[in-house]
Amino acid sequence: MDPKYTPLFQPIILRSGIQLDNRIVMAPMTTWSSYDDYTVSDEEVAYYSRRSQGVGMVVTGCAYVTASGKAFHGGFGSDHDDFIPGLRRLASAIKEQGAKAVLQIFHGGRKCSPELVPNGDIVSASAVPGEQGTGSAPVPRALTETEIQSIIRDFGESTRRAIEAGFDGVELHGANGYLIHQFFSPYSNRREDQYGGSLEKRLTFPIAVIDEVKKVVAEHAKQPFIVGYRFSPEEPETPGITMADTLALVDVLANKGLDYLHVSTLEFWSTPRRGVEDSRSRLEMIQERVGESVPVIGVGSIYTADDALKAIQTGVSMIALGRELIIDPDWVEKVKLGKESEIETKLKKDSQSRLVVPNSLWKMIVNRPGWFPMED
Ligand SMILES: Cc1cc2nc3c(=O)[nH]c(=O)nc-3n(C[C@H](O)[C@H](O)[C@H](O)COP(=O)(O)O)c2cc1C
Repeated sequence: MDPKYTPLFQPIILRSGIQLDNRIVMAPMTTWSSYDDYTVSDEEVAYYSRRSQGVGMVVTGCAYVTASGKAFHGGFGSDHDDFIPGLRRLASAIKEQGAKAVLQIFHGGRKCSPELVPNGDIVSASAVPGEQGTGSAPVPRALTETEIQSIIRDFGESTRRAIEAGFDGVELHGANGYLIHQFFSPYSNRREDQYGGSLEKRLTFPIAVIDEVKKVVAEHAKQPFIVGYRFSPEEPETPGITMADTLALVDVLANKGLDYLHVSTLEFWSTPRRGVEDSRSRLEMIQERVGESVPVIGVGSIYTADDALKAIQTGVSMIALGRELIIDPDWVEKVKLGKESEIETKLKKDSQSRLVVPNSLWKMIVNRPGWFPMED
């Protein structure tokens, strides 16, 4: 290996005591490929297994914690003990290749489609539709306090199932506009009870979910268990999460005893829209704010070994690769063997079976021009 890449290959011990062999994480990516009953499919197991050799940790695509939070056709569930055998196969496939296995858990909130949830009942923090202005998004129903408490327990139950299935941890999906994000956002959360109003109150739900999950870990995990949290910095809506709100969120999360914070961006070097007078990237600002208190994972459009090196040199603890690990599952091995010049950074149109990509994911990719870098 070229010694300049050593910073990517330093082991790291997380707060739970779990050690990751290196600083490279597979980013969570839904594959839309579960069986019709939303259990984990063979195709998915093969896809994850192909990508779990070399990276320190794999975060799975998001698993819904309760039926009202199902956001994708073919996005597997974790809301019943019947899902445990499939989840166990997934965790084992990842761990057999040497990576730590982390299950991402979520509730889709207002981003769910009516046909996927019981009685078409779309729920959120408040009755504010998702894609404002387009007229296409259904108006969700504001959750009652009792329902909110039930969803908090659902996150705990999914965590228990992740433990029983042999995962090394869970990642709470507080990013990308799903329910946890909806509660933190002043755009989607217009509540006036304990769950909304001030920034502090908009944090009530995310914090209650963290506390519940940590309680379940303390009760059920017989060995160290990772709890990570993913969030999106800022959002475009007005009123919406600003960079100043994001830094306030980070201050709170940094003191919750989490194993890591995972900052969801499409571009690692993206800069703040508003809320701060600062020209640095969002990730650099978040890393500075957090300091040594909790490891930060940065992600977004990292393709080459030099992209990854430049990113880790900002001081973030780990970097995640999403699309690039679909394009080249041998990314880590190639860097380790000094073959970084052989890394593929564009998807070849005839490579689905060679790259072990499930059918539904492949269809999504080829039907969405511009999403993945493609070879001509
Ligand atoms: C096919 C696909 C599915 C994704 N599914 C999820 C998901 O389930 N949960 C999540 O937090 N992010 C999801 N993302 C976002 C990625 O984790 C990542 O943040 C984003 O793709 C930017 O990283 P990249 O440029 O390395 O791909 C998905 C991205 C892709 C490409």
